[in-house]
Amino acid sequence: MQAVILAGGKGTRLRPLTVYTPKPIVPVVNRPFLLYQIEVLRRAGIKNITLSLSYQPDKIEDVLGDGSEYGVELRFITEPNPLGTGGAYRFAADELRETTVVLNGDILTDFDLSTILSFHREKGSAATLALKSVEDPRTYGLVESDTDGRILRFIEKPKPEDLDELAVNTINAGIYVLEPAILDLIPKGENRSFEYDVFPEIMGRKMPFFAYVLDSEYWRDIGTPASYLTAHHDFLDGTIKGFELERSQHTDIATAAIVDSRSVLGDDCVIKPGARVSNSVLGPGVHVEEKAVVENSVIWAHTRISTAADIRDAVIGRSCHIGRNVVVSAGSVLGDKTALTDYTKV
Ligand code: GTP
Repeated sequence: MQAVILAGGKGTRLRPLTVYTPKPIVPVVNRPFLLYQIEVLRRAGIKNITLSLSYQPDKIEDVLGDGSEYGVELRFITEPNPLGTGGAYRFAADELRETTVVLNGDILTDFDLSTILSFHREKGSAATLALKSVEDPRTYGLVESDTDGRILRFIEKPKPEDLDELAVNTINAGIYVLEPAILDLIPKGENRSFEYDVFPEIMGRKMPFFAYVLDSEYWRDIGTPASYLTAHHDFLDGTIKGFELERSQHTDIATAAIVDSRSVLGDDCVIKPGARVSNSVLGPGVHVEEKAVVENSVIWAHTRISTAADIRDAVIGRSCHIGRNVVVSAGSVLGDKTALTDYTKV
């Protein structure tokens, strides 16, 4: 059994965070994101993992290495030009031609993949998709399946007035189990999308095509800044369980500073007297000066937050300089090396 992680997208929605750090390795609670997916695959006994890359591939390879540190074997395949999700799968999985678990490289989940694999085998399926119920399906493509799990149709971004009638709220969760027969539906070297090209082709050919609906499992697409921040809060408040959080012992926190028990700090953080950090994640080497406040936020490595600055519900990239008395308000997302002059409000 092999897995392919689709990790070649540009991650435009997560800009500016993805300008210097490709989405698959953005830090999530101070770990490169894909390590969570690698852990989920390893737990299901899948150790042969191919990373399908296109955008900034060298950075991803440098950070993840050969996988031995994580108990898996990582193989990296870089497309000559972006091939889309379906084309990337063909390019990455062609050689091995065996049942393959395919993951979108921006899905955070604690899903036990062995359940979808058993389901796939029981049904004799050629392609199985995990689906997730969402409360507001307006911005998604919906997938309708029957009680037996057979996929009936795909409905692209429905109009609000049609939603009540549809009674469908399950979306494609970006987790697939595919038999090698699917490879033959994708022309070699050409750009193809799963949603727009491959899935309609499977339907058209009436191949066994099933859906497995996720239930209580945690699932989130971390591809937007708001969702990326929420994923952190889900870790800190225990909504997502089953992953160890690394809390550094090598920090310098003044006795007159307050760091709440939820917050996670990386190595070599310095928190000065009168500063307050709550419900936040600080990367390694972050400095928070006197009387500064960091609340509900994510701060990447080596950023300095000067005296009396006030940061709330924000994401701040690497090596930024936040001046004295600066106010960074809810929803702000600052790219790496941003410098904010004293008293700036964003
Ligand atoms: P946005 O630009 O913000 O939409 O993000 P994205 O580029 O990641 O696109 P999207 O979220 O639609 O992609 C879903 C998954 O497929 C992500 O994990 C991408 O990394 C991956 N992906 C998208 N296009 C390609 C591609 O051409 N090649 C490869 N290898 N992966 C891709």
